[in-house]
Amino acid sequence: MTQPKAETIKLNSGIEMTMEGIGTFLFTPDEAQASCEDALKDGYRLIDTANAYVNEKAVGRAMKKSGLPREEIFLETKLWPSFYEKEDEVDQTLERLGTDYIDLMLLHQPAGNWKAGWRQLEKGFKEGKIKAIGISNFNKEQIEELLDFAEIKPAVLQMELHPYNQEPEFKVWLKEQGIVPQAWYPLGHGDHKLIDEPVFTRLAKKYGKSNVQIILRWHVQDGNVVIPGSKNPAHILSNFDIWDFKLDDDEMKEIAALNQNKHYYISTPELLAKYVEMVPDVDGQK
Ligand SMILES: NC(=O)c1ccc[n+]([C@@H]2O[C@H](COP(=O)([O-])OP(=O)(O)OC[C@H]3O[C@@H](n4cnc5c(N)ncnc54)[C@H](OP(=O)(O)O)[C@@H]3O)[C@@H](O)[C@H]2O)c1
Repeated sequence: MTQPKAETIKLNSGIEMTMEGIGTFLFTPDEAQASCEDALKDGYRLIDTANAYVNEKAVGRAMKKSGLPREEIFLETKLWPSFYEKEDEVDQTLERLGTDYIDLMLLHQPAGNWKAGWRQLEKGFKEGKIKAIGISNFNKEQIEELLDFAEIKPAVLQMELHPYNQEPEFKVWLKEQGIVPQAWYPLGHGDHKLIDEPVFTRLAKKYGKSNVQIILRWHVQDGNVVIPGSKNPAHILSNFDIWDFKLDDDEMKEIAALNQNKHYYISTPELLAKYVEMVPDVDGQK
């Protein structure tokens, strides 16, 4: 039996992005390589990494080992604030990833001289080294400032999104700007209080799915690209089996009612200032 195809979304730069990928935050190089290899075997075609995860070389190795043509994989990474003023960091990132283009590159944080970082991404885009550019953790005011200044508009905002933090009004505004939301912590970073909510358990039973599959399906139907992280091969496989069922409108509304603006991560000016000082050991990685 052929698997139903993963859904995709078109970005404002014209390229297609799959609605689900594998996340690699907090993974050692070996863990990242194993997760990405598993994911690519299971049909995933989107990988999310970052300079700051210090596992880009391992992601590059997993892509090579998969045997897939480069153009079948959507590769996403993020420029770290201490590199915003470092002119050659796009090239350095390409080298670590072992590829000659990145599908989507984001500014990781609205910190330091992010305008210099944006100019660096725009340059990479114009040179064909990056196919789409975007941002992560920017709020509405910061995006408005970026839109005033940008030559190339952001295609994606990666942000904390899960059933406890749904950001409905912000997402309407993002849609008006042509910016696609991508959910980090889509499972609340594995919070079992969230995963075990009775509504997910009931819907899981109805559809013959797991609670996590219901949450991921809700994300996709709500317009969020998801990048769940997992080191468990069985989880990686089942997390991608969400394309053969659809939640109905009442079920989507029931899940919408879980929204409580809960953030697992709170950004502060102190943290942002620290990020500018923090230099990830990108050269020392395995
Ligand atoms: N831009 C940013 O600032 C930012 C910040 C945070 C994250 N991110 C990105 O977003 C990705 C996702 O975030 P995350 O990985 O931290 O959190 P997450 O995807 O919400 O949750 C990951 C946790 O859920 C567990 N899990 C995954 N599948 C499961 C399943 N089927 N059943 C039970 N548990 C399951 C994982 O454990 P197992 O390993 O046991 O499966 C892991 O502990 C990151 O990897 C990263 O790429 C970006």
